[in-house]
Amino acid sequence: MDKKRVLSGIQPTGKLHLGNLIGAVENWVELQKEHDCFFFIADFHALTTAYTETKQLHACVQQLTIDLLSAGIDPEKAVLFRQSDVPEHAELHLIFSMITPLSWLERVPTYKGKIDEMKEKDLGTYGFLGYPLLQAADILIYKADLVPVGEDQLPHLELTREVARRFNFLYKETFPEPKDALTNFPVLPGIDGRKMSKSYGNTIAISDSPEELRKKVGSMITDPARVKKDDPGHPEVCPVYAYYQVFGKDVASVVAEECRLAKRGCVACKKELAEILIKYLAPIHTRQEHYRKDNALVARILADGAAKAREVASRTLKEAKQAVGL
Ligand code: TRP
Ligand code: SF4
Repeated sequence: MDKKRVLSGIQPTGKLHLGNLIGAVENWVELQKEHDCFFFIADFHALTTAYTETKQLHACVQQLTIDLLSAGIDPEKAVLFRQSDVPEHAELHLIFSMITPLSWLERVPTYKGKIDEMKEKDLGTYGFLGYPLLQAADILIYKADLVPVGEDQLPHLELTREVARRFNFLYKETFPEPKDALTNFPVLPGIDGRKMSKSYGNTIAISDSPEELRKKVGSMITDPARVKKDDPGHPEVCPVYAYYQVFGKDVASVVAEECRLAKRGCVACKKELAEILIKYLAPIHTRQEHYRKDNALVARILADGAAKAREVASRTLKEAKQAVGL
């Protein structure tokens, strides 16, 4: 009874990459062991920015579901579902939209930030402004205690608490205030050394084949000060080394030492890393194979997840409507 309720979501904007795996999903896999977890694929949220590119949306949801299952999300332990299968999120969002001052949404840093970042898209929409409010509905409809997120999402959590307080104050004590469970994992660099992100095209997907992994790792940026093999290296600035610290902990200190003493060449260093990643991802790839062959199983898992999620969500929505007087 005193199990904490955990909720988190991820947008279906492409394949799950190593940054997602390390920064979020491996943490979810740990959390599902001890908590009452709800994890979902935020397809409504994807529409707020990708509303003109909806053709791939279905395939993206399918791929992400398989990626999450393969990475270890266990439908026996956690409720895994697609947001749009649970329309209660949208209905609660609508109710919240009535009580949320525009200024609260306009001042969320991701609002102006994303508009500047995605200049090629028209994000001057009603739905995009409401992005964090929909997120508040996602969280509050499950009365979540803990929300594992990255640092960039903290303002959305703050807004969620403000909306909960306002609702409780205006109508009736209904929503508990959720806490963030910051995933304090170092940001994994992409193959070009910048933050790994789909928008930079520098990701390594968890579904990349061994050949793709070798190719991508082989093209990674290394310490720019190492022109010749006998120049001493600086592992602390090298993206390849950042990967060793995550995926090759047992060899990382040797790698660093050999690099500093110029006893290790970057080509060999990357070759070794590629093999480490291939090994790390092998069990995930095996599970991917299994799910890819069985679309019906994946569909069933999402349907079961939605049914379980709706049980909770519909109860909360009923309470909220009563509180409002609907
Ligand atoms: N905004 C989150 C992101 O981009 C995804 C998300 C949507 C989410 N709804 C959520 C995360 C609810 C946590 C809780 O990463
Ligand atoms: Fe990076 Fe390895 Fe080259 Fe050192 S040897 S700079 S850690 S790739």
